[in-house]
Amino acid sequence: MDKRIDFFKVAVKNLKTSGTIAPSSRFLAQRMLKQIDFSMAKVLVELGPGNGVITHQILKKLTPDAQLICFEVNDDFYQHLQKIKHPQLTVLKTSAEHINEELKKLGFSKACHIISSLPLTIIPNEISTAILKKSLYSLEQKGTFIQYQYSLTYYKQLKAVFKDAISLDFELLNLPPAFVYRCKKLH
Ligand SMILES: C[S@@+](CC[C@H](N)C(=O)[O-])C[C@H]1O[C@@H](n2cnc3c(N)ncnc32)[C@H](O)[C@@H]1O
Repeated sequence: MDKRIDFFKVAVKNLKTSGTIAPSSRFLAQRMLKQIDFSMAKVLVELGPGNGVITHQILKKLTPDAQLICFEVNDDFYQHLQKIKHPQLTVLKTSAEHINEELKKLGFSKACHIISSLPLTIIPNEISTAILKKSLYSLEQKGTFIQYQYSLTYYKQLKAVFKDAISLDFELLNLPPAFVYRCKKLH
């Protein structure tokens, strides 16, 4: 079945957690990953992989000794992601809120980069703030939290957690065009 139709059906049925009806374009996926030095990145985390459009791009870039751990709450997307048979991929059907304990269970102390498509503006504020704080905690020093958003309304909340270590990028070739935040853990 066409991946786009799959995504549309599942996303519409679960609009409160998907936050969109269209998957990211490959241009947005590439922009999200553009500044990652994959030769140095050994533990990567993806939050909200959906149908895996960014996941596939990450997997193509992993070095053989790197791992990708995905957090997805939606059962349809989770089942879909399970079909990606890749030895360096772990897909967890749990909320991004559990990032710290899940990484620990898998034997990782910190992540090098966290790539997030979570619909932060529609997740209740206390939960989205907790996810950001836990993500910051889970990152190694100089690691980045990369997030796309369709507007700039969430900038304040990101700044409250990541302070001034945030840079902004933009991808026009996406429906709708999207901003990409890169938030660096300085200390
Ligand atoms: C906007 S979609 C992004 C899908 C895909 N990564 C893309 O860019 O097209 C957001 C995804 O986040 C997932 N999601 C929402 N809340 C979540 C949470 N608390 N933890 C993990 N995944 C979550 C949704 O189920 C959905 O798959």
